[in-house]
Amino acid sequence: MKIVIISNTLDEADIVQRVLSSFSGSDQITSLGRIDSALHLDRIDLASTDVVVIDVETVQDSDIRALSTIAHHSAVAPAFIYLSQTTTHDQLLQLIRVGVSDVLHHPIEVNQCREAIDRIRVKRASLGKGAQSKVISFLSGKGGAGATFLATNLGYILSVEMGKKVLFADLHMQGGDASFYLTNLTGNSNIADIAKSGELDSMMIASAAIPVEPNYLLLQSPDSPEKAAGLTASHIDNLINVAIQHYDYVILDLPHILDAVTIKALDRSDVIFVVTQPIMTYLRAVSHMLHLFSRLDYEPSKVRVLLNRMDNVGVLSVAKVEDSIQKNINVSIPNDFLNAVEAVNLGVPIVESAPNSAISEALRGIALSLTGGEVPEVENKKSMFKRMFKK
Ligand SMILES: Nc1ncnc2c1ncn2[C@@H]1O[C@H](COP(=O)(O)OP(=O)(O)OP(=O)(O)O)[C@@H](O)[C@H]1O
Ligand SMILES: [Mg+2]
Repeated sequence: MKIVIISNTLDEADIVQRVLSSFSGSDQITSLGRIDSALHLDRIDLASTDVVVIDVETVQDSDIRALSTIAHHSAVAPAFIYLSQTTTHDQLLQLIRVGVSDVLHHPIEVNQCREAIDRIRVKRASLGKGAQSKVISFLSGKGGAGATFLATNLGYILSVEMGKKVLFADLHMQGGDASFYLTNLTGNSNIADIAKSGELDSMMIASAAIPVEPNYLLLQSPDSPEKAAGLTASHIDNLINVAIQHYDYVILDLPHILDAVTIKALDRSDVIFVVTQPIMTYLRAVSHMLHLFSRLDYEPSKVRVLLNRMDNVGVLSVAKVEDSIQKNINVSIPNDFLNAVEAVNLGVPIVESAPNSAISEALRGIALSLTGGEVPEVENKKSMFKRMFKK
């Protein structure tokens, strides 16, 4: 596990580090001192940290405030252990309320400390970090079918409404536009630059990505083709290896021209959503793509066709579409021009600007199918699932 200790000073943190490092040879432990008596949790990559041990003489109100911010803004935060000289009944309650896993007292009792760490170890292992992670790819047979629009919004539902940790990776090496569907923020770096680094880790991903939401990070595509030069299939392989250790869902937005990098991404995907529209030009392109996928020996169940912008007038019926591409349609998403355009013009997810729209509802259905119908426990004001599953 990745453990961070924050004490008043670095020397005091080192004392706790010596105790913790005797528990397991594989834990990666970092010691930090407070800055002006504050925790400054912003120094830590919370997304990739399993445990934060806060070591202090007396319980600090500022610590409680800092912890409550994390508890309320991130559904997937590290576990916190609070280590102090004493705690009053009220302080204990406050610490529990802000989500602290264990409260321990000085002088540090090795066995108690080991048990607290082991409890967290067991709990996090049962969450299945990495093992449960799914790689989901989106691509359209032909440009403009809606792959990026749907993928970015699905990521938003999985993270914000379902409490999953999601990394979105825009793998278009030219003209990637995924971030514009979610935010006007820009990242510190782009996917090609970090994937090519020999030292890629989750910290590097988190600091390069745009934090769309605390649980939803987006790696932007490079803004010029030169920056993508030298990017290989093994770079993408490595990026996916690192990402699945730290995210529940890794969503890949892929171009429809299949080169070595894209094929590697497709190989590594658990599910590939091919997005099409009920129009002949799109269907021809999808048929061609499905043919390539069968030559690549992809399991038919891994490839799902998503029929976007379905309408009652002027387009082919589902039966005709299925007949044309010789494959079942897994999901149909209705055409909703007004809500889609409004969301795109605002640069926000449609799930946020029009949470009750037919598109948002259809995407929730996809999210549920990916999570195996697991009813989300997230209790936040943005979650529509809360209402959907209310008895
Ligand atoms: N169900 C829908 N109803 C109405 N409009 C939609 C729907 N889905 C997508 N759109 C619109 O289609 C536009 C193009 O979508 P998008 O950029 O996602 O296509 P794409 O498949 O990613 O294209 P490219 O291959 O060029 O990356 C979006 O701007 C969005 O407004
Ligand atoms: Mg796109």
